[in-house]
Amino acid sequence: MAAPLGRDGATGLPGAVHVLGDPPALAAAAAAWLSERSATAVATRGRVSVSLAGGGTPKTLYELLASPPWRDRIAWERWEVYYGDERACPPDDPESNHHMAATALLDHVPVPAGSVHRMEGESPDLDAAAARYADLMARLLPTGPGGAPRLDVVLLGLGTNGHTASLFPGTPALGVHDRWAVRGRADYRPYNRITLTYPTLNAGASVAFLVAGSEKVPALRGVRDGTVPAAGVVPEDGELLWFLDEEAAEGLEAS
Ligand code: 6PG
Repeated sequence: MAAPLGRDGATGLPGAVHVLGDPPALAAAAAAWLSERSATAVATRGRVSVSLAGGGTPKTLYELLASPPWRDRIAWERWEVYYGDERACPPDDPESNHHMAATALLDHVPVPAGSVHRMEGESPDLDAAAARYADLMARLLPTGPGGAPRLDVVLLGLGTNGHTASLFPGTPALGVHDRWAVRGRADYRPYNRITLTYPTLNAGASVAFLVAGSEKVPALRGVRDGTVPAAGVVPEDGELLWFLDEEAAEGLEAS
C-alpha cells in the first residue's frame, strides 16, 4: 500500500495542485503534463492507456491537443483510449462524451480506430454494456492495485455537485468495489450512464482533475472536506493532480 497522499498547503486538496490563470492556461498546463506522461508510458511499455472525461473543461484540453504543437508531439498511434463515463445515447448524439471527444480530438489525430474503446451508451441494457466494458478493460490492461485494471492516465472533470465521471451523490455506483464499470445515475439529462468505479479510478497511475470557474468552489470544498463523490478518488499507487484556474483556486483558498 502506498503512503497516503499529502495535502496541498494552500487549497487543502489531496495530491499536487497546479493553479493557472484561466481555462486556456489550464489546458496548456494539462497538455504539457499529459504529453509527458504519454511519452514516458510509450518509452516503457510501447503504449499508453488514457481515460477521457466528458464536460466543457476537458473539451478545451482536447481542442488544444488536436492543434499544433501538441498534435505533432504526441505518439497518437500508441494511444489506447478509454472513457471515465458515458451518457445513455448513441455515439453520434451531441450529448455523448465519445462524440465530444471524437469531434474535439480523435477525428483530428491518428489514434487507430481499433484503439478507441468507447462505452456503449446506446445499449438498451446498460448493466450488460458496463459489464462488457469492465471485461474489456480487464483483458487489455495490466492489473493494478486492488485487482482493478490499471490505466496510465485518468482525466476527470468535477461537477458542481461534486460528482466525477458518473459517480453522482447518493447513487449505488458509489458503493461498488468489486466491479470495474457499472450503470450510473445522473441528476440531469441524460440520467442514465455508464461509469468507471472507484477501484478502477484509484488503480490509475496518473489521475488528474481539470476544474475551472468559481461555480466549482463548493464542489472543491466538498473534496477538501471529504463530503462529495470526487473525494473518493485517491489513487492507491499513483499520482493525483488538480489543474485549477485562478477563479476556482482563489475561491477555495478564501473559504
Ligand atoms: C459527464 C462528465 C462529468 C463532467 C463534469 C464536469 O459526462 O457529465 O464526465 O463527470 O466531467 O460534469 O463537467 P464540466 O467541465 O463541463 O463542468
